[in-house]
Amino acid sequence: MADKLIIFDTTLRDGEQSPGASMTRDEKLRIARQLERLKVDVIEAGFAASSNGDFEAVQAIARAVRDSTICSLSRANDRDISRAAEALKDAASARIHTFIATSALHMEKKLRMTPDEVFEQARLSVRFARNLVGDVEFSPEDGYRSDVDFLCRVIEAVITEGATTINVPDTVGYAVPELYGNFIKYLRERIPNSDKAVWSVHCHNDLGMAVANSLAGVKIGGARQVECTINGLGERAGNCSLEEIVMAVKTRKDYFGLELGIDTRHILATSRMVSQTTGFVVQPNKAVVGANAFAHASGIHQDGVLKARDTYEIMRAEDVGWSANKIVLGKLSGRNAFKQRLQELGIAMDSEADINTAFARFKELADRKSEIFDEDILALVSDESITRGSEQYVFISLAQHSETGERPQAAIVFTAGGKEVKGESDGNGPVDASLKAIEAHVKSGAEMVLYSVNAISGSTESQGEVTVRLQNSGRVVNGVGADPDIVVASAKAYLNALNKLQSKADSVAAQG
Ligand code: KIV
Ligand code: ZN
Repeated sequence: MADKLIIFDTTLRDGEQSPGASMTRDEKLRIARQLERLKVDVIEAGFAASSNGDFEAVQAIARAVRDSTICSLSRANDRDISRAAEALKDAASARIHTFIATSALHMEKKLRMTPDEVFEQARLSVRFARNLVGDVEFSPEDGYRSDVDFLCRVIEAVITEGATTINVPDTVGYAVPELYGNFIKYLRERIPNSDKAVWSVHCHNDLGMAVANSLAGVKIGGARQVECTINGLGERAGNCSLEEIVMAVKTRKDYFGLELGIDTRHILATSRMVSQTTGFVVQPNKAVVGANAFAHASGIHQDGVLKARDTYEIMRAEDVGWSANKIVLGKLSGRNAFKQRLQELGIAMDSEADINTAFARFKELADRKSEIFDEDILALVSDESITRGSEQYVFISLAQHSETGERPQAAIVFTAGGKEVKGESDGNGPVDASLKAIEAHVKSGAEMVLYSVNAISGSTESQGEVTVRLQNSGRVVNGVGADPDIVVASAKAYLNALNKLQSKADSVAAQG
């Protein structure tokens, strides 16, 4: 391909570092498969050495995904790198991404190492990694705030040792576009062997400029890889958003002149899947994937779009996965129609048995809700992945009573470790009573730090999607639940969060 921009997705690694966004192995695998459908070039599947859970997730993704390169992050030491290589052993195409901080601040305060020690460790780590895999990426963490002479020295040395990609992170989101673009350009011009590696940008969004900085790194600096995440998920204010970068480069091909491998029609389904899995709701006015991204409210705009669509639209909604016909299925829709819609939405189900389970849930939903929208189907299959497997707590049923002037009461039935249990409580409102009814039995002692409800498809007939963020013993998790009854959705979200707290506790214990 002429001049291609490599899309490196780090939703499963940097994205997962957002508070509460941690995902189970199965959730990660599902998202990785979706990223493969999206035709992402490189998937950073995790940080294999960080926990047994992460190792298993990277390994499972390396085994399942064939069309994208699978990458594991690793600190610049032999143990981490060996662990990454082991997890990636079965990948069709594997990359090790090793990093060490190079800014004076990080070296002195965080690493407590001298620049010479960092230089040596970077060099030897890349050499070690190159003996294990042919594709090695090196990142000088906090690269943008590093002394430029030192940075040039380190980068030249790691390229000599065989690094095939050089990534220059703006770790703290401090850059501005013109300066960042020129910074990359300067490094490429000054480092004698710079042409032996692909240059990559990795920008955080603390000042809201991650996408702009990345584009400047590409246009001014000549980078040919962008590191990004779905919905811009990531630590603090997040990372550069994949959907925005991709659609900017595609829509303004006249300016960027670059090819992309991405199948943009899967963008929306991927965005929904990530949002529903992590509990990070997409804001309505978010570019490309927000509910309002293609909605025209003013009469003048509506009139213009009806006469000639390009009066107010620079992209086609269908090109990013919004279907023109919004009501998709109903009570009378059969299994084939359901299966076809799953395929059109880019949802890959593992087996016919999974499709059958999802279809049964679809039928239940269609009995309660006459029109089923794409968003309902995405929520349903997402919820399906939540409840599949051996979760500790699984919702069964809920009864609650609330009346003006009386204190609401709730009784909930769920399974705990496979055994049916019942909890009862009153509360300030029906949701409060229901969650207290769960706690009456579980006694997790977790603190709720966020509760939000979102109507999946607009009207009151819509399903409510609830996100609950719980914090316990320094661990933070997000639980998500969807149901036409928001009290039930809340209970499902709460149980989902408890399951995640439980599995996090297990993985910490496993590291011992
Ligand atoms: O932001 C950062 O510096 C990173 C590196 C590990 C690449 O995520
Ligand atoms: Zn980062």
